[in-house]
Amino acid sequence: MAETLLVTGTTRSEIYQSLLPQIEALTETETDWVANLANVAGALRQGLGFFWVGFYLVRNGELVLGPYQGPVACTRIRKGKGVCGTAWAENRTLVVPDVEAFPGHIACSSESKSEIVVPLHNAQGEVIGVLDVDSHLAADFDETDAHYLGRLAQLITQLHARAAQA
Ligand code: SME
Repeated sequence: MAETLLVTGTTRSEIYQSLLPQIEALTETETDWVANLANVAGALRQGLGFFWVGFYLVRNGELVLGPYQGPVACTRIRKGKGVCGTAWAENRTLVVPDVEAFPGHIACSSESKSEIVVPLHNAQGEVIGVLDVDSHLAADFDETDAHYLGRLAQLITQLHARAAQA
């Protein structure tokens, strides 16, 4: 498909519903893992305007910065550290309404006020990274984001499996 996005809808749920099929179309003919993650980050930032959207990938026992859109960020996060490292260690989505109140939060930018981190899995169910979305607004994420970003994480599992076969 053409590398353009047509974002429709006014509620966040409608925008996710508009974005998800387009992200599937954007990634369906590409087998390269990094290229696909880069476009997923770009589509989420373009569609929803978040402050920071990106991936941290498990590399030799720690999370290492992957494709992202937004200001520069820390490159390495240990398991159990910060929101990302905790989502990895506990293998669950974390919605953090106030990052200042999260014990051990890693502050890459004082402009980030709330965030959601979703673990990513390979076909065997192992955590291979996390999707991290940060907002400059407090309490900007809820169950709607957890639902649609969880669906996106399932697509990313498929993309990972396809890249492994390519
Ligand atoms: N806030 C994250 C660190 C990554 S940046 O926000 C891009 C954390 O505590 O895991």
